[in-house]
Amino acid sequence: FKIPTTKNEPVLNYLPGSPERAALKEQIAQYKSSEMDIPMFIGGEEVRSGNTVRIFPPHEIEHTLGHYHAGDETHVYRAIDAATNAKEGWEALNWEERAAIFLKAADLISGPYRQKLNASTMLGQSKNVYQAEIDAACEMADFLRFNVHYMTAIYNDQPASSPGIWNRMEYRPLEGFVFALTPFNFTSIAGNLPSAPAMMGNVVIWKPSKTAIYSAHILMELFREAGLPDGVINLIFAPGPVVARAVFDHPDFAGFHFTGSTGVFQDIWKTIGNNIHKYKSYPRIVGETGGKDFIIAHKSCDAQAVATALIRGAFEYQGQKCSAVSRAYLPSGRWDEILSYLQKDMKEIKMGSPEDFRNFMNAVIDEPSFDKLASEIDAAKNHPDTKIIFGGNYDKTHGYFIEPTIILTTNPSYKTMEEELFGPILTIYVYDDSKLDETLNVLDKTSMYALTGAVFAKDRAIIQKITKRLSNAAGNFYVNDKPTGAVVGQQPFGGARGSGTNDKAGSMLNMLRWVSPRTIKENF
Ligand code: SER
Repeated sequence: FKIPTTKNEPVLNYLPGSPERAALKEQIAQYKSSEMDIPMFIGGEEVRSGNTVRIFPPHEIEHTLGHYHAGDETHVYRAIDAATNAKEGWEALNWEERAAIFLKAADLISGPYRQKLNASTMLGQSKNVYQAEIDAACEMADFLRFNVHYMTAIYNDQPASSPGIWNRMEYRPLEGFVFALTPFNFTSIAGNLPSAPAMMGNVVIWKPSKTAIYSAHILMELFREAGLPDGVINLIFAPGPVVARAVFDHPDFAGFHFTGSTGVFQDIWKTIGNNIHKYKSYPRIVGETGGKDFIIAHKSCDAQAVATALIRGAFEYQGQKCSAVSRAYLPSGRWDEILSYLQKDMKEIKMGSPEDFRNFMNAVIDEPSFDKLASEIDAAKNHPDTKIIFGGNYDKTHGYFIEPTIILTTNPSYKTMEEELFGPILTIYVYDDSKLDETLNVLDKTSMYALTGAVFAKDRAIIQKITKRLSNAAGNFYVNDKPTGAVVGQQPFGGARGSGTNDKAGSMLNMLRWVSPRTIKENF
């Protein structure tokens, strides 16, 4: 049969006077005028523990958006039971029936859910309108549609047969349940981590980041409205260590789908290792973890393009993308020119509430993140190897605001060139034009991560040289473009080294991790 082709969801522009702008403003006003009471969803039931926790916008901490019902260990066990009970019925559905649910969910995003997802992401995670649109609306719809496309391709891939012998591959779901532990920074990633394994016939326990429960709740409503049967995805809000203890101790634990920090992933991997004898099968472990993403420019670069990529790559969504540029290696012969473009463009950056659509930047996600970023800025103010050339101020009176900050360092191994900060802080090292090879060696060695990176050059021989030399330094490598904003179906996303298992979200590689195939040979 034919594998259906699919297209990326068009990005809407939200210009003044546009219908999408009016609809979004109305949805924001509605969310702001009523407090949401957010239950867990277990086995299709709304579960209210009564132990409620306040949710507020990171940019307006006095305002209450709602409350969520926090769970405990009993809710995790209840979720595992619900998933186990749903498994047989879910597996028995033809894959076309499963696909239809997720394709319908994507169409609901193109329609009535678009502004619910955008508004909840803007308010709950402090994202501006454009960043919400490319994430919560477009990337989420793209994940769903493209994953159906890859799923179809997988089921269609069958082995050769010969006269008298018929060989088949049966792409079974994993024997057990999948645990999805999802991040705050992309609503689409939070939706993809439980839905991709579910699409392949698995049942899922889903624990979102506590700083993104507001939009996770809307995603869960979306899946339910699209027809997801009870118990296939179970959304719980218990603390991470409590969930981890119950899930990783369970004999039916079969897969882990994660985006988050390297430290958490490594600890969980060890826990899974320690429990390995308890499980029926070796669990699938798929994780996208940290990054220390870079731009290296050559003296043949376009200086304006480099400055634009630095600003967009480092400061869109306050530098809280896993792909965000946080270290740059710039050629001494072009530095003055790049700096003058930075001076011109950095002045234009506006920061504040996402409700004002002119704001390019909003608040960072929470107080611990704010405090850590502020302390890194203070350390750079007082270090002999560094100078703050832009920004450097911060204020948490009404929201967690950190100015877009650029540190210039004379030491390519200064700690903010090595460690992931996850915020709007970019560190620049200006290298001697004649020392490109040494600089590439330093770049490749400095950090444990290998998620995204970019080269800026016009000289093709240099582009080839740098692309080859840095072949293991990034899972997503960009030539003359910022290293953020991968589009599902166009730039499959993921990194190796300390950045993850590189199973490329939104690709066939990822979808293959959620099946455990059986080969069937039949003699005629
Ligand atoms: N896919 C996002 C990007 O490329 C990061 O997760 O920016």
